[in-house]
Amino acid sequence: MSSQVVVGTQWGDEGKGKIVDVLAENADLIVRFQGGDNAGHTVVVNGIKHVLHLLPSGVLHEDSTCIIGPGVVCNPFVLLEEMEQLKKSGLSTDHIIISDRAQMLMPYHQYQDELEEAAASHKIGTTKKGIGPCYQDKYARKGIRFHEFRDFEHFKNRLKETLDFKNKMFVNVYDGKAMDYDQMVKDFEGIRDQILPMIQETTHLVNDAVDEGKNVLFEGAQAAMLDINYGTYPYVTSSSPTSAGVTTGVGIAPSKLENVIGVVKAYSTRVGEGPFVTELTDELGENLRKAGGEYGATTGRPRRCGWLDLLVVKHANMLNGLTDIVLTKIDVLTGLETLKVCVGYDIDGTVYDYIPSDQADVAKAKPVYKEFEGWTEDISKCSSYEELPKQAKDYISFIEEFTGVPVTMISVGPDRVNNIYRKEF
Ligand code: GDP
Ligand code: IMO
Ligand code: MG
Repeated sequence: MSSQVVVGTQWGDEGKGKIVDVLAENADLIVRFQGGDNAGHTVVVNGIKHVLHLLPSGVLHEDSTCIIGPGVVCNPFVLLEEMEQLKKSGLSTDHIIISDRAQMLMPYHQYQDELEEAAASHKIGTTKKGIGPCYQDKYARKGIRFHEFRDFEHFKNRLKETLDFKNKMFVNVYDGKAMDYDQMVKDFEGIRDQILPMIQETTHLVNDAVDEGKNVLFEGAQAAMLDINYGTYPYVTSSSPTSAGVTTGVGIAPSKLENVIGVVKAYSTRVGEGPFVTELTDELGENLRKAGGEYGATTGRPRRCGWLDLLVVKHANMLNGLTDIVLTKIDVLTGLETLKVCVGYDIDGTVYDYIPSDQADVAKAKPVYKEFEGWTEDISKCSSYEELPKQAKDYISFIEEFTGVPVTMISVGPDRVNNIYRKEF
């Protein structure tokens, strides 16, 4: 296997971090291609929990190279904090590279995110990490890229010009406060020595690695339903967290992507605002939240919980061209008498087998469910498919049948070792 991508197929938090950590065992390069520290990826190794936001989740494998790719919006202060956490756990951070083309997420982006959310009549429920504003500046061709950090005089000029403009907006449009330029310069001066050695051109590095047959793993953050074009717009993030995002976010041709691995959580969760057709707002939802530990790793917000929505997974498959599904957290469903999966949306009496573009239609949709019998056996220690109860196998078979994608790995617990493999990765 020379190049594979791991993507989220729902609204994020499917367990991508855990799966990337597992697959990174054999990877030479691990590359983030979009998003920023809005991501929260939990990796558990020998009972020790590591929460990663900006760093690729393969970072615990010290003999691989970890790249923050050109499509990422990277807050350098957060990056250094995360690296510091790893060092405290006795881990190396010498294998981390930042693409010189990556956008630098600035303190004013974070403040802008806060102000925009506070002022919005329809709040998106962002993570307030500055992701949207940083991508706004990128596409307006006003962003600051990491290569611009090398010449500090140039960087200071760009900062001055941008901050002057942002401050006018903060004060005059949002009734906020102006940010202090001199302090910001000092803060950036303080991190230059640590950041500069990490900045490299990465697009040739990645293409050469793929051409040489090295194992390259692309790590998606967020998920298909948060995609800027094909998610529940406007309740989405500002990037393309799909296999297509790899090609633009790293700079490799689509033909160079071999395996596209979609991570599917055995039920659904969503953080932030926006329609959620299979949401359970009753005790059952609360029980799922507790059993699955569904609280945001980035913001601590309780995640909204509901039944598995296979229209969502089908949509994700269409966008990504999945070759494999990795099913996670099926252990959380243990003990439920009946399980439901959504196979259609009833909107004003018409049953849809796809997700409509207008979120106002999605908001009206009533789920059409297929029911499955549950199981009571503890499956968290299962290490082969055969050991799973028949009811769990039926649930998995239906996911394969409905989506047309094989479920080649099943995760039955948070630790690196809690997996059932149905093929060699
Ligand atoms: P990501 O954003 O897709 O990486 O997912 P998160 O890390 O935000 O959320 C997934 C949560 O579920 C984390 O706390 C993981 O440790 C945990 N997890 C991952 N896979 C499994 C699993 O198969 N079973 C259980 N019980 N927990 C899991
Ligand atoms: P991982 O990688 C779940 C959601 C936010 C909000 C919307 C926009 O851990 O799966 P943003 O800050 O990106 O502008 O917020 O997207 N969101 C996520 N939800 N998991 C994530 O990442 C998310 N990243 C962003 O809650 O609804
Ligand atoms: Mg997460």
